[in-house]
Amino acid sequence: MQSYNFSAGPGVLPEPVIQQIQKDLAAQEHTHTSILEISHRSPQFDAIINHAQEKLRQLMGISEEYAVLFVQGGGSLQFEMLPANFATHQGKIAVLDSGNFAHKAALAADAVGKEADILATSRPDKYRYLPSLPANFQSADYDYLYLTTNNTIEGTTYHQDLLPKTDGRLIADLSSNILAEPYQAQDFDAFFAGAQKNLGPAGVTLVVVKKDWLADQQPENIGPMMRYQNYVDKNSMYNTPPVFSIYALGLVLDWVDQEGGVPAMYARNQAKAKRLYDYLDQSDFYQAPVQGAARSLTNVVFTTSNADLDKKISQEADRAGLHNLAGHRSVGGFRASLYNAQPMDAVDALITFLDQAKKENQ
Ligand SMILES: Cc1ncc(COP(=O)(O)O)c(C=O)c1O
Repeated sequence: MQSYNFSAGPGVLPEPVIQQIQKDLAAQEHTHTSILEISHRSPQFDAIINHAQEKLRQLMGISEEYAVLFVQGGGSLQFEMLPANFATHQGKIAVLDSGNFAHKAALAADAVGKEADILATSRPDKYRYLPSLPANFQSADYDYLYLTTNNTIEGTTYHQDLLPKTDGRLIADLSSNILAEPYQAQDFDAFFAGAQKNLGPAGVTLVVVKKDWLADQQPENIGPMMRYQNYVDKNSMYNTPPVFSIYALGLVLDWVDQEGGVPAMYARNQAKAKRLYDYLDQSDFYQAPVQGAARSLTNVVFTTSNADLDKKISQEADRAGLHNLAGHRSVGGFRASLYNAQPMDAVDALITFLDQAKKENQ
């Protein structure tokens, strides 16, 4: 039976990348010099990390104005590192509270002693829509404006054309739609993405920061591991980096490039998401709560409006080979994650299954 993984993260990886990893590990089985066993100070790893940085620069058009860093601690550590490093003048950041992870980022800024001002929120409406920047926003009052491009749990996205316009600094969390749709690197002063959705396995977080902005900061009372400048100075090897995760991330970037880069990923992702939303929209059994232009391409959320039935159907889906379709525990329902490595066949198999489940349960 063909099976598919709709996990929101860590999520599905490209089949050729999994095969390459297996081949590489097998080739060094007897010499014990595989990627799991080499020093991060070796020339082999130098080549791997530099290649990953270059590939990312090429795929996203990131200029030398920015540093490309690899950090551990996930997106969650970035919620703390960003304000600790970049909120050093006003000590205050502005947040668009569009989802659970933006909310966590605001709380984390407070936890590192900065003030997070939630300018707009859709939290009372279960984050079903995207809050917009208030017209009277004064960027000069804040060190930066912060947002999450794709709200992984709620299934909404500030697509490139929905990004707020600000004359101040902008930082974005691109964890769940980086390389899945186009963004201009120069629209941001810094951005980051946990690898485990579109970039590779868990364990590494990509962080891109504007070098001159970083040079203009004097973060106080933070340790060396919290300080971006140390990652810049040591090519992300201030301490032992997640060697395997960076190697696998490089393979995923090669795959994206070979498949046609971000434009090709975007075209595929639009086609996959459209097919699923079209099916849900014509259905009198399933509903997709997010409407209009804010709909996510990478995380499609939907429900039958009956929590017990949603649970039963996602368990049946699992037995039918369609795994990890249950929505996040905070919202319930279903969530189909359609990251870059998810084939259109997975969407077709899901629609066939959902239609059958509707007939059996309506
Ligand atoms: C958009 C977004 N930001 C941040 C995070 C947190 O990442 P981590 O669990 O790696 O800390 C997640 C996790 O799923 C996410 O989806």
